[in-house]
Amino acid sequence: MPVGTQGTVKGITPAQLRDIGPQVILGNTYHLGLRPGDALVAQHGGLHRFMGWEGPILTDSGGFQVFSLASLRKMTEEGVAFQSHLDGSPQFLSPERSLEIQRNLGSDICMALDECPPGRMERSKLEVSMARTTRWLARSRAVPLQAHQGLFAINQGGTHLDLRRGHLAEALELDAKTPFQGFAVGGLSVGEPKDEMNAVLAEFVRELPADRPRYLMGVGTPEDLLFGIEQGVDLFDCVLPSREARHGRILTSRGKLNLKNARHREADLPLDPDCACYTCRTFSRAYLHHLFRCGELLGFTLNTIHNLSYTVGLTRAARQALLENRFPAFAQTSRARWQTEEP
Ligand code: GUN
Ligand code: ZN
Repeated sequence: MPVGTQGTVKGITPAQLRDIGPQVILGNTYHLGLRPGDALVAQHGGLHRFMGWEGPILTDSGGFQVFSLASLRKMTEEGVAFQSHLDGSPQFLSPERSLEIQRNLGSDICMALDECPPGRMERSKLEVSMARTTRWLARSRAVPLQAHQGLFAINQGGTHLDLRRGHLAEALELDAKTPFQGFAVGGLSVGEPKDEMNAVLAEFVRELPADRPRYLMGVGTPEDLLFGIEQGVDLFDCVLPSREARHGRILTSRGKLNLKNARHREADLPLDPDCACYTCRTFSRAYLHHLFRCGELLGFTLNTIHNLSYTVGLTRAARQALLENRFPAFAQTSRARWQTEEP
């Protein structure tokens, strides 16, 4: 899922996004609730109509953003009080308010509000935090949503497998009464060593219900996507492809390329000869290098079209490989190319 925090995937139009072909995009409860406000979006017929995107939208609950953006946070059992990062105004987010915002936005997949502990939290503190996230999950389950909306639960537990298992068991008790539409793994890629994240994924993803989507939040790089898919993840979101594009860092089937580099100044080559996106079909590296050096807006747009096309294409190719029972060979070839070939 490309990330459209403010109701736009930065730098490209919904028509361009449709051509790129992601099945779902992500919006943010925290940002849209503060500005322009969920009531205004609802007045305009909901987020799909407001932003001109007809495909599915998933909205994150705001938990993660409150922890990474807001200041003067005060957690209570009821919810989290914080100051807006926009104007310092006092705000309050509870599980019920988060889902009310998501109901007003009209997203298709809603996420339950979770407490997002930092990567290296002490185990005893983490346990207290997760117990609260579980109570919030029960309150979230009780909030009525629109008929087309589904609710996903978010699993926490840092890199402690036993804590994640315990947390999942509690979510599954709630699930037995009223099913969730999917299960997310949160609290990863938040500063813990990569091998610890991978160890959790290798053990834990397979324990999530296989009949519902498994969503790994905030991940990641092409390497991380491939590893996650290998472990059974179905759904990812990450700002990396679009953010990197705006910095002239290009993802390709031969690894990463920096458009700023002088070696691209005269290169009459597409960004990725194996990519069929609009940017690669139409423009040379020399032109894109020029746009980047001038800081031209079109450069951001064209780089974003490519990076998102590459990333969505990678997941599409992975799915095809799985359907045709040749995923291991696909993964091996992809990794070998990133590691050994020059972009
Ligand atoms: N995005 C990335 N990680 C997380 C997480 O743990 N919780 C939420 N709500 N969003 C995330
Ligand atoms: Zn391309």
